[in-house]
Amino acid sequence: MISKQIEQVLNEQINAEFYSSYLYMAMAAYFRSIKLNGFATWMEKQAKEEEEHALKIYEYLNKRNGRVSLKSVKEPPFEWKSPLDVFEATYVHEQEVTKSIERIVSLTDGEKDYATSSFLQWFIDEQVEEEYSVLQILEKLRMMKDSNQGLLMLDAELGKRNED
Ligand code: FEO
Repeated sequence: MISKQIEQVLNEQINAEFYSSYLYMAMAAYFRSIKLNGFATWMEKQAKEEEEHALKIYEYLNKRNGRVSLKSVKEPPFEWKSPLDVFEATYVHEQEVTKSIERIVSLTDGEKDYATSSFLQWFIDEQVEEEYSVLQILEKLRMMKDSNQGLLMLDAELGKRNED
C-alpha cells in the first residue's frame, strides 16, 4: 500500500518522465531539421529511455495498489539556437529531474516508505549517469565553439548510440 501523498508525487513524476521523452523527441526533430542525424539518433534513444522511466513508475504504482492518473503532457519548445543551446537546456533539465527524484525520496523517508525509497534508488543512480553523459557532450560542444568540423565529428560519434 502506498500513501496518497506518495501516489500523487509518483504520478507527477510519470508526467515529468513523459515530458522528458517529448522534450527529447522535439530536440531530435530539431536535429533532423538541421541534418545532424547523429545528434538526432542520440536524442531519439534518450526519448525512448525516458518513456521507459515513466513505465517503470507506472508498473510500480500498480504493484503497490496505487492508482495511476495520467495528466496532459506539456508542449515542449520547438526551436533552439544551436546544438550547444540544446545541450545547455538538456543539462539544466536533467538536473531538475534529479532534484525532483530527490524530493520524492526525502518524502518517502519522512513517511518511512522504505519500499518506494528503495525503488527510487535506481532512478538516483540513473540520474548520475544521465547528468554525466549529457555533461560530456556539453563540454565538447563548449570546447569546439563554432567549428563545423568538430560538430560533424561529434555527430558521427553520437550516431553510434544506435548500435548500443
Ligand atoms: Fe528520466 Fe532523464 O530522467
